[in-house]
Formats: sequence, C-alpha cells, structure tokens
Amino acid sequence: MSFTSTTTETIRTSNTLSSNQKNAPIDQQIANIIRTEHSLNIGSSIHFHDGADKEGVLMLPESSRKRLEDGGIDLSAGYPEIPDVLEIPIFVDEAHAIRAEDVPYIERGKNADPEKKALLGAAKEVIHLTKNVGTEIVGLQLADLTDQQKDELALLVAERVVVFFRDQKLPPTKQHELGSYLGNVEVHPQTPHVTGLPGATVIWNDFKLKKGMVLNYANANLSNWDPIRNKSIGNQTWHTDLVHEHQPAGYTHLHLDAIPKSGGDTLWASGYGAYDKLSDEFKRFLDGKKAVYISAHAYLDRNDPLGGPKKIERIHPLVRTHPATGWKFLAVNRSMTRRIVGLSPVESDLILNYLFDVYEKNADLQIRFKWTSSEEGCGTSAIWDNRVSQHRNIWDHEGEEPRHGTRVTSLAEVPFFDPDSKSQREALGRPIHQWD
Ligand SMILES: [Fe+2]
Repeated sequence: MSFTSTTTETIRTSNTLSSNQKNAPIDQQIANIIRTEHSLNIGSSIHFHDGADKEGVLMLPESSRKRLEDGGIDLSAGYPEIPDVLEIPIFVDEAHAIRAEDVPYIERGKNADPEKKALLGAAKEVIHLTKNVGTEIVGLQLADLTDQQKDELALLVAERVVVFFRDQKLPPTKQHELGSYLGNVEVHPQTPHVTGLPGATVIWNDFKLKKGMVLNYANANLSNWDPIRNKSIGNQTWHTDLVHEHQPAGYTHLHLDAIPKSGGDTLWASGYGAYDKLSDEFKRFLDGKKAVYISAHAYLDRNDPLGGPKKIERIHPLVRTHPATGWKFLAVNRSMTRRIVGLSPVESDLILNYLFDVYEKNADLQIRFKWTSSEEGCGTSAIWDNRVSQHRNIWDHEGEEPRHGTRVTSLAEVPFFDPDSKSQREALGRPIHQWD
C-alpha cells in the first residue's frame, strides 16, 4: 500500500513504540512502525511476513518439493524464506547504498574459445531456435559442466542472448554455484528466496497471489501500454532485471521445476538487434547518451516520508558495449528506463517510447519459449544475458496449473560504452540498410 492517511492514522495510534522510540527522529519512528506493523507495505499489495513461510511449503508443487528435498533444502521451517524485516531497507538512501561500490567482475565469456568446442562438441544436439535469438542445447547437464564449458556457455549466451537446457536435474545449490562462477550472485533485499539459500530467488506467482498480488487475465498486460498508470505485475511487462544496480545483472538463470502443460511461456528480445534496427543517423545521436534507470521495488524518501513510494535511480549509458562480444546494444526497457539525461521530458518520452517499440514490436528480434521438459522429475533452464535483452512472462495459464522456479542472477560489470565498438550486424558482416 502507499503511504496514505490510513498509514498516518496507524502511526498516530500505534502502541508498538517504546518511549525511546517515540523520542527518535521522525524517519526512525516511521522505520520502526513499518518494521513492527506487518500490515504495512510500501508500494505493494503483497503482504509477506519475514522468515520461512509455513503456508508456502504446503502450496509447493510436487515436482518442486522433490527437487528441493533431493537437493538438501530443509523445508521443515517453511518455504520460501522472506528476508528478515530488520534487514529490509525502508528508505531509498539505504537501498541505494547496497552494492554501491565497485566489486571485481570476471567476464567468463571474454577468453572463451570462439568455436566453443568443449561445450558444443559434447552436446547431443545444438538447435538455433530462431535466426537471431535463442539456442537450445540437448544432452548436457548444467550441473556437470567443466569450467571450460562454463566459459564457452557464457560466450554462447552473450552471442545468442538466451540459451536453453531441458531435462535438467539441477539442485538449487548447483544453480547457485554456476551463478557464482558467472558473476557476483545478487541477493535481493526484499524478494523471497529458497529457504537457507539467499541468492536463489523464488519465481512463483501462485505464492504471490496467495499473499495479495492482484493479477488476472484483464490486468496482466496493462503496463505494456502505460507503466506509469498501471503497475508492472508478475513479470508480464517487457523488462530487464535489476537495471538500477551499480553493476547490473549479467548472466541470469531461471530454472523451472513446475511447468504448465500449456501456457506460462517466456519471451526474450535482443538489444543487439534493437540497436541494429535504427538508422546510422539515429545510432550516432544515441551513442554516448545516458539514461536514468529505476528499481522495481519502492522505498521512502527520508526527507519526505509521507510523499509516497520512491524508486532507486542510477545513471548508465543508453547504448552499451558488451565486454565479451564487443557488440553495441540498446539498453532500455519500458518498465525501468525513466528518462534520457539532457533531453526535455517531452523529447525523452518521445524517443524512449519509440525505442521501447523497437524492442517490443520487431518479432525477428524475439523468441517465445515453451518450457516443457520431457523427462519425469527434470526441469528446464534458461540462461540469458540480461544486459543485452528484455524479457516477459505470459500468464495465460492463469494459475490453473502450477508454475514454480528459482532464479540466480549474476551481477556483471559497471556498464560502459566504447565508441569504437561495432554493432552486431557490422561485426558479423551482415548487410546494414542505408536510409536515403
Ligand atoms: Fe524478470
């Protein structure tokens, strides 16, 4: 809920504060109330209690429970685990300070064998699902990859945007291990994770619906038209994860262990391709520009705590260069790119809306993936390069069949733009249309 008169009434009548707390500065009093009044949430209709969830463990799909238990996850206290309420930042300055400093990042794809012989040579089959985006690897288990194969996988993901592995036996701990190899695993301050394994984020709309998320067939897509008026719900809107981070998300790995027979697909779109759809003149205009990126979650302004939810904001290049492929890509998304630095609001809105459309409307830059695994007791993994893509989930199954998974996100480099880098088509020697 937003900070409304109901909230101020709660503050006025709250008996939960000690006399010391009542004498504390107003921002601290508000933080105390939010931490002790579990009915209060900032900018969200979902009501989580901290700790492992007793109700959640009872809702677990059979296949998910088996994967978790076989993988050594102790579910006796509950599932999923919600971060300790004392650890969740209340104010946007606190949230902004998380991971604000440079941390070393090793780009695993950078020195990999460009032919990827160790990885592709060991696969039973390698299927390029569309010309520009998405490759499926058949006959390899992610849990068994050597470091050399992991390096080659990183490069393949960086080139193909997203790579899929069906029929995987993958405990969450192994998924977490792979994520740690590919970058710095993100631990989210708010979202539920696998019990005892922070960094293995739980992707489970059925659980959020139980906790108050308002998602239905009629509102699921509204924010694809107008994210300002309509909140993004349950990953239905085209978006890129964690773009507000100082070092935003790179290789990102979602493993689904409960998959609807029909529906629940995910779409990805390529940022290399989106950039290459622009004219040379427009590319030149955008190269070197910067934009303001916002967080998905909201906090409060310490200096204006009753002023409503505030997002974390960070500035990054609008056109970036990928450290492994060296290709330029367009780094915008409708959900979380707020404005282009240096332009008037009208100019910025006009250009950004066009760039969002380029990403969202060019089907030759996209893939729609059906997650089905054919082997009993196995799940399906998608590893995408979050830097060079947008994605969205489709909630057409409307929760009639369970859908559950775990996501491990590897944070990558501080974003950069190399003016000497090339676009994907330029680097690959593919034709580039010249407009008169
Ligand atoms: Fe996402």
